[in-house]
Amino acid sequence: MERVQAVRGMNDILPDAVHWWQKVETTAREVLELYGYREIRTPLVEKLELFARSIGESTDIVEKEMYAFPDRKGQWLALRPEATASVVRAFIEHNLHADPLARKFYTIGPMFRHERPQKGRYRQFHQIDAEVFGIDDPLMDAEVMIMLCDFLQRLGLKDIGLHVNSLGCPECRPRFREKLKAFLQNRSPQLCPDCDRRRHVNPLRVFDCKVDRCREALTDAPELAQYLCEACRRHFDKVLEYLSDLHVAYAVDSRMVRGLDYYMRTTFEVITDRLGAQNAVGGGGRYDGLMRDLGGPDLPGIGFAIGMERLILLLQQKEAWVSKKPQVFIAVLGDEAVRQAFRLAQDLRAHGVAAELAHGGGSLKSQMRRADKLGVAHVVIVGEEELARGVVVVRHMVSKEQDQVPLENTVQFLMTVSTVESL
Ligand code: HAM
Repeated sequence: MERVQAVRGMNDILPDAVHWWQKVETTAREVLELYGYREIRTPLVEKLELFARSIGESTDIVEKEMYAFPDRKGQWLALRPEATASVVRAFIEHNLHADPLARKFYTIGPMFRHERPQKGRYRQFHQIDAEVFGIDDPLMDAEVMIMLCDFLQRLGLKDIGLHVNSLGCPECRPRFREKLKAFLQNRSPQLCPDCDRRRHVNPLRVFDCKVDRCREALTDAPELAQYLCEACRRHFDKVLEYLSDLHVAYAVDSRMVRGLDYYMRTTFEVITDRLGAQNAVGGGGRYDGLMRDLGGPDLPGIGFAIGMERLILLLQQKEAWVSKKPQVFIAVLGDEAVRQAFRLAQDLRAHGVAAELAHGGGSLKSQMRRADKLGVAHVVIVGEEELARGVVVVRHMVSKEQDQVPLENTVQFLMTVSTVESL
């Protein structure tokens, strides 16, 4: 029979790996809540229009990577490729601006982009996403980046670079766009067909292109930093000042434009050189016009998202995980003993001792082999002969010593020995 396999680029997370996910999620929640963020959960499916209007019609995400489909009534929907648009939509839809405490949100979950899968790049991937609304103070830009660095440090990831840039605002960016357009017109023959088309509609996107000849064509391209208006310049200088005040290391990267169109002013990425081509562990920035453009109040916004798969690849390079083992294995000899053993296993678990019960009988030898594989500290042997005398045998797997313990004292005995051993 032919087997049905998972969709390419969409991965199972197996029990041997899931602890990494739990560790990352737990740490993320701790840090986010410390900085005042509250969790929000939005649907995985939204109207296609939401992403087209926010991320931008001429971005790779919207043009090529969305899982978009008409539902049975012909309404165009899409699997979310990111979370920002959804969180903004939910904020508007539920009038959350009326609540002065509702300013900082986070969400954790799967996103979908139809990219070519490779290490660190998948079609279903997971993000930890944080968003702040209603605060346009440069201090918030710095705080958001500092929180991101704080989180990475708590996970023990140190050699990750913070790259920052300012993309200007609707005041100053058009001037830069025109300059860039003129520059790209001269370079047109060198550009890939995508960039040659995009230089008309969305010239900044050309900075995102990975094709070598486009990169070469851009070597002496104009730099956005030189075109920032006074207000954007001041904002950006303040952000950098606040970062320096707290001794956060950063590099200004004036070529970093990010892959989504809603950004203005501060943008940032956390970059590693340990993941090959997929070097961005996370990224974000300010998007002050987005809420208004989506029909909501004119509130500024800033946020970021971290790719969980990439984060976990980095963690796995750093340390091996010591998995939790069951503490006690219960070997059973004879049908009658099964019932006692079953009760004992439940009793141990009720007292916080992780117990694994032998299922399906088998010789004592084969049961001991299984206990060995599980790496337990103790095996309780429940045999009919011993039960007739009201005792069980507790075997210490390292010293090989055995004790006969009255059945009713077994839980107490095991709780004591496992506490002593873990000291
Ligand atoms: P983004 O840069 O598109 O930003 O994605 C953020 C992170 O998600 C990336 O740095 C990367 O780690 C991870 N990521 C993206 N695509 C994939 C993929 N195909 N496979 C694995 N990981 C991936 C955003 O999504 C913005 N919504 C961030 C943001 C929030 N800006 C403001 N608020």
